[in-house]
Amino acid sequence: MPQSSAYFGEFGGRFVAETLVFALEELERAVQEIVPTESFQNEWRGLLADYVGRPTPLYRAKRLAERLDPTAENLGELWLKREDLCHTGAHKINNALGQVLLAKKLGKQRIIAETGAGQHGVATATACAVFGLPCEVYMGEVDVARQAPNVARMQMLGTRVIPVSSGSRTLKDAMNEAMRDWVTNVRTTHYCVGSAAGPHPFPTLVADLQSVIGIEARRQILEKTNALPDAVLACVGGGSNAIGTFRAFFDDPVPLYGIEAAGEGVDTDKHAATITRGRVGVLHGARTLVLTDDDGQIQEAHSISAGLDYPGVGPEHAALHRSGRAVYLTATDHDALQITREVARTEGILIALETAHAFARVLDVARRERERLGRPARLLLCLSGRGDKDLATLRERLGGEP
Ligand SMILES: Cc1ncc(COP(=O)(O)O)c(C=O)c1O
Repeated sequence: MPQSSAYFGEFGGRFVAETLVFALEELERAVQEIVPTESFQNEWRGLLADYVGRPTPLYRAKRLAERLDPTAENLGELWLKREDLCHTGAHKINNALGQVLLAKKLGKQRIIAETGAGQHGVATATACAVFGLPCEVYMGEVDVARQAPNVARMQMLGTRVIPVSSGSRTLKDAMNEAMRDWVTNVRTTHYCVGSAAGPHPFPTLVADLQSVIGIEARRQILEKTNALPDAVLACVGGGSNAIGTFRAFFDDPVPLYGIEAAGEGVDTDKHAATITRGRVGVLHGARTLVLTDDDGQIQEAHSISAGLDYPGVGPEHAALHRSGRAVYLTATDHDALQITREVARTEGILIALETAHAFARVLDVARRERERLGRPARLLLCLSGRGDKDLATLRERLGGEP
């Protein structure tokens, strides 16, 4: 297996139609030559500060910690990195602003994107409004229905939402359609990929742009507690909020936990636990872990959270799993729904159903770390986004009663 910047161990690479190689090489050069420049960094960081509202706060969730572990035997402190307070309500805006700015500098005239939960679509629509570029977003029909508020938001921002009716009508299919569009319009169009997935250089570019989360969180927790966290948690769809949080801790002796969607259970055929149950394969231009059947065909994923409903995962996560540097756990639809209600009622924060998967494993991680440390653990969790978009699902599944 070739080892280059395009690979994370055996995972990654660029398995794409020949027509896209030019665009990916152009983007790779831009990542190396434009992104590190002072002018790009100043413009992007200026927007992150004045437009997105960074740095986002680091908040100690005392009531939730007490509720989850009343004796505080295992869970000492729970710190939340509040990406839900970013403009547009999730971490996705960090990446979208960076990529659309880069596309503008490359002279691209049109932006396309895929979206599952709609948060990346809203973020891209927002960035396109800021930079004055036309935007079209592919979204599976199932997600168009379950994330209706975000569809309306994108349309309000002047973006055309294109419903995708093929396959499982979710994120994977939206990404397929966006890739098809890109192949046809590659000279004029930038495909703003929403997660740390896809062909090289997207996993690296997205992780670089999202690393701001972990860099801030590491500094903030040191300021507030004089110590590093005992472990870091984040939910994993394609893996961008998780890798953005994890990277800052790679060189620290801090365990990293990614939480995938177990849907109706990893032993059923309705889940999205790609790392836990996947096999090595190629999806959307990268060699990674994917959910496949015995013939190697991509299986349909399932999760109550549209943003985790994806049968692949970013290649860097596949490599972190393989090396053991990060541990990947799962949470079911039911776990996510229950903890969403719990967080709302103890902390007054309506979290996204994606994020809820990470919350659902807090106590388990605290117990593991207590065992290792011999004292209650101090945990850091990336609160990747807010849950307003999920209200219809929450009402349907939990009812409106208190
Ligand atoms: C709030 C939120 N968190 C997490 C995710 C999962 O994506 P990723 O794994 O790239 O962070 C999404 C995807 O839409 C999201 O909207």
